[in-house]
Amino acid sequence: MNVLVTGGSGFIGANLVRLLLVERPGWRVVNLDALTYAGNAENLAELDGHARYRFVRGDICNGELVADVLETERIDAVLHLAAESHVDRSILSPPVFIETNVRGTQVLLEAARELGVRRFVHVSTDEVYGSLGPSGLFTEETPLDPSSPYSASKASSDLLALAYARTFELPVVVTRCSNNYGPYQFPEKLIPLAIANALRDLPLPVYGDGLHVRDWIHVEDHCRGLLAALEKGESGQVYNLGASSERHNLDVVKQVLRLVGKPESLIQHVADRPGHDRRYAIDSTKARTVLGWAPRHRFEEALAATVRWYVERRPWWERIISGEYLAYYEKQYGAG
Ligand code: NAD
Ligand code: TYD
Repeated sequence: MNVLVTGGSGFIGANLVRLLLVERPGWRVVNLDALTYAGNAENLAELDGHARYRFVRGDICNGELVADVLETERIDAVLHLAAESHVDRSILSPPVFIETNVRGTQVLLEAARELGVRRFVHVSTDEVYGSLGPSGLFTEETPLDPSSPYSASKASSDLLALAYARTFELPVVVTRCSNNYGPYQFPEKLIPLAIANALRDLPLPVYGDGLHVRDWIHVEDHCRGLLAALEKGESGQVYNLGASSERHNLDVVKQVLRLVGKPESLIQHVADRPGHDRRYAIDSTKARTVLGWAPRHRFEEALAATVRWYVERRPWWERIISGEYLAYYEKQYGAG
């Protein structure tokens, strides 16, 4: 089996490529990634020369390139992760989110249709459902109600993917996962940002009152869910993935500070994110029942392991926290 992973040099993609090579020794994995600010060739550097792995640098919006990769690599299945993924950046500058997440997804779907790909897993997010009140969970039937340009672009791409299943019978499966954490996450997202700042005695910015709730899942559990969706998902179906680990943002940053051994006085409340979703929480009964998938990691232990990873891999994130990232940080938090 030849599998194309788009966005394989990003956070989830790098974890997924590794997992696929280990768990499916008969598979060949091709990674198509444009290496935007979020893509990092270093994330998979140890795979250089691996017999069952190939990296192609390229943009998913480039139809000719995508078709060429699908054809020459005789791709059977696509796991589509390439995206602009950060809500705050989508608020600062929406256009690239439409270009990559909407148009790029359509280009990929079209090429997959033309070349007869046998399975297309479209990797999406619970953010397409919008915000929950204090109770209840997102199910696959929850209406789409995205709040940010990021989540609106993901909802658009979900609908395109499902339309390709219905209209063209492209065997598409859509997954919607909750907030991930773990190794290789770019330090603009809450958990790695909190760890990297705590380790440098810098303030930990918490938006608004910090009582927003996210439902955390370890990236490896997400990746196992994607593999299950690829192998067992039914075409045209959506599967929610989550680990039932709801936490307030404030609790998460306090836990990070405890693990790093730094004082809570580093917490700094800053202006709230516009349109900030109050609560996400996932009902993943369908994935657990139909795909036979279940998360393995518990939040507290896995967060501690994640903090250890960032402590041990300090050069990895210190190299990232420079250049373009510095300019973004200044724009996002400078006035805060
Ligand atoms: P990321 O930002 O870490 O990685 C995205 C990758 O896509 C990068 O390697 C980047 O170079 C690549 N990319 C961006 N634009 C591209 C383009 N035009 N062509 C080719 N490659 C391009 O993101 P992530 O957190 O790993 O998320 C991966 C996917 O999972 C996204 O689709 C995201 O919406 C989805 N998702 C993420 C989370 C989460 O908590 N991080 C949760 C649910 C779903
Ligand atoms: P984030 O990691 O950006 O993921 P998402 O917005 O996709 O859920 O943010 C997680 C939560 O943490 C969200 O409620 C916003 C909040 N947050 C902060 O309070 N401070 C920060 O510096 C960041 C990046 C996020």
